[in-house]
Amino acid sequence: TKLCVLISGNGSNLQAIIDAIAAGRLNAVVSGVISNRPNAYGLERAADAGIEAICLDHTDFDDRASYDAALRAQIEAFGADCVVLAGFMRILTPEFVDAFAGKLVNIHPSLLPKYKGLHTHQRAIDNGDEEHGVSVHFVTPELDGGPVIIQCRVPVFEDDVASDLAERVQEQERRIYPLVLGWFSAGRLSMRDNKAILDEQEL
Ligand code: GRF
Repeated sequence: TKLCVLISGNGSNLQAIIDAIAAGRLNAVVSGVISNRPNAYGLERAADAGIEAICLDHTDFDDRASYDAALRAQIEAFGADCVVLAGFMRILTPEFVDAFAGKLVNIHPSLLPKYKGLHTHQRAIDNGDEEHGVSVHFVTPELDGGPVIIQCRVPVFEDDVASDLAERVQEQERRIYPLVLGWFSAGRLSMRDNKAILDEQEL
């Protein structure tokens, strides 16, 4: 399976995917990495791994539709079977999402449907939650609203600040994203009728 990984920043999830492939734990290839920000550290991680990495800077485009059209063309040029959002901090148009329906996955740092959107760790702390976590889901036009594939929970401790919680969550992200992509690559995972299906079972 050819993965195209979309990033905006650090790229620790990208690194986890690269490492899982290198270690033989994930049977896939990263055919390309795209960042919407020129200074994303993940672009260096890709280059270090010998992966083609390009920046499509959203500030060079007039509107969301033209950006997403260019993004789609680049993903298709990479010949990707699966589009992996890994800290890609942009809202995608419904046209883009529909073009990749069932092949587009995201990792979101909360126990969805709780805390869609930004600042999830701070919101969990502010609400006095005793647990928090991360979700991998298929992307549908509703922001952070597509069917969940897997979630991992972590505890929230009393003196946690957002960065403590982010670190605890991200440790789990690096475990579960390669796992899910392995399921997808093995043909075990799909989306049907807005539901995530693993081995013919609804998740
Ligand atoms: C992760 O916490 C991910 O869940 C969120 O953005 C962060 C990206 O981190 N969507 P990285 O760029 O993969 O290091």
